[in-house]
Amino acid sequence: MTSIKPRNLSFDLGSALAAEWNDDDWFRTAFFNSMSILFPYGEKSFIDSVRAHEACVRDESLREAVRGFMAQEYVHRREHQRFNERLCELRGYDLDYLEGAIRGDAKTLQDMDPLFWLATTVAYEHLTATIAGQLLKQDGWIENANSDVAQVWRWHAVEEIEHKSVAFDVYKAAGGTQGMLRKAMVLMSWEFLVRYQLRSLLHMYRRDKPPFWRTVGQAMRFLFARGGLIRGNWTHYWKFFRKDFHPNDIDDTVVLDRAIDLYGLAH
Ligand SMILES: [Fe+2]
Ligand SMILES: [Fe+2]
Repeated sequence: MTSIKPRNLSFDLGSALAAEWNDDDWFRTAFFNSMSILFPYGEKSFIDSVRAHEACVRDESLREAVRGFMAQEYVHRREHQRFNERLCELRGYDLDYLEGAIRGDAKTLQDMDPLFWLATTVAYEHLTATIAGQLLKQDGWIENANSDVAQVWRWHAVEEIEHKSVAFDVYKAAGGTQGMLRKAMVLMSWEFLVRYQLRSLLHMYRRDKPPFWRTVGQAMRFLFARGGLIRGNWTHYWKFFRKDFHPNDIDDTVVLDRAIDLYGLAH
């Protein structure tokens, strides 16, 4: 297992978030802004669900990886909280409304079967790691973005890939089954795309009022074009439903090493 250590970075984005920072594309900018809204509450839930099962972990290297995972997610939460507050201040979005869905769901999950709660974290960690892999590829989704904002996403994506198997390994140590994981993934995919992303995108659309057909075209390209969110991630997404799936079945080492080197993210 690669060693997992947080990079305690802090980002000052100035007024970059006031504009369509991602290649002057409203949809692609708003999609990433919506994902950022999820992180402060979402990643707290990830940390807490792993912590709730920490006692099941006997292997010392996994215990160390758990500490690294928590430390990385802690810094992600802090920086995305700053990102979200600045974004809403500059663009007039209602942060309390945007966070409402994830805040409520995080509380609901915490009150459910603890192992299912952890399974939802495992599902989310797979979604974030596959999105991160796509983002870090050459000609990825933020290639022409504002460089300061792109660096936030590249840093976060690198660390998501570094710790992508931690929640899964803790889940297995706690006796979790693949069957429960599949249920969690179906539920979380729906929550992510419809309950969180669509809900936030609609709020942002109503505030910004970008041209309708141009936005539809941008959405189609981002979601369904070659290398797009759905078409580009489909094969990796489905691997999660295999009987013997493990996150390390997807080899991201070339993409990860290139990104760490190219974007100055070595420790
Ligand atoms: Fe994260
Ligand atoms: Fe993560």
